[in-house]
Amino acid sequence: MFIVLEGIDGAGKSTQARLLAEWFEDRGYEVVLTKEPTDTPFGKLIRRLVLTGGREGIIDGAKISHEAEALLFAADRAEHVDKLIRPSLDAGKVVISDRYFYSSLAYQWARGLDLEWLIDLNRFAVKPDIVFLLDLPVKESMNRIRSRKVKSEFDKIFELQRKVRENYLKLAEMFPEMKIINAMEDVETVHNQIIALIETLLGEK
Ligand SMILES: Nc1ncnc2c1ncn2[C@@H]1O[C@H](COP(=O)(O)OP(=O)(O)OP(=O)(O)O)[C@@H](O)[C@H]1O
Ligand SMILES: [Mg+2]
Repeated sequence: MFIVLEGIDGAGKSTQARLLAEWFEDRGYEVVLTKEPTDTPFGKLIRRLVLTGGREGIIDGAKISHEAEALLFAADRAEHVDKLIRPSLDAGKVVISDRYFYSSLAYQWARGLDLEWLIDLNRFAVKPDIVFLLDLPVKESMNRIRSRKVKSEFDKIFELQRKVRENYLKLAEMFPEMKIINAMEDVETVHNQIIALIETLLGEK
């Protein structure tokens, strides 16, 4: 089974990915907990050029072109699928990924890139069985990660995150594997919402 967690910054993806991995492990499954960008050389390049390439990288877009940015994310993902995701699924393991190509669609689309091009670019990526979209108002997510953010850039970050949230919700209408989870609830309640859907899926398999 291949499971993905998506959502804006601070939505609770990493928290829920960890809890979900523990849930499967407690039931005797072999779990691979992974994330994007990955820790491969491509992922490191993304962190250097896009994410930490100055705060402007995160806020106004990378120093590189938006297209180059999208291609880098796709290259990282190609390695992720080829070296880790597909082999792990073939070995019968449960794979849980903290972000996947839906992040590229939501964020790069918010940068102004063409959605169809982004979808085509990511067509190689093996489809997950289920994607949990942790949805919550930007105000709440930014409260949760307040200490990580830069006050002076608050408005710009807020506006980008608002657009990304909107995009995620539009994507959820296009991709039936995406399930919207109310991430406003406490950690335990969000976890229980996720488990309820996982149990349904396991019942169907
Ligand atoms: N349901 C919740 N209610 C309140 N706080 C939460 C909840 N879930 C997570 N948090 C807290 O919010 C912060 C962000 O959570 P987390 O790191 O899991 O988010 P994330 O989606 O992985 O963020 P990022 O996209 O930046 O990696 C953490 O301090 C976490 O403890
Ligand atoms: Mg995280």
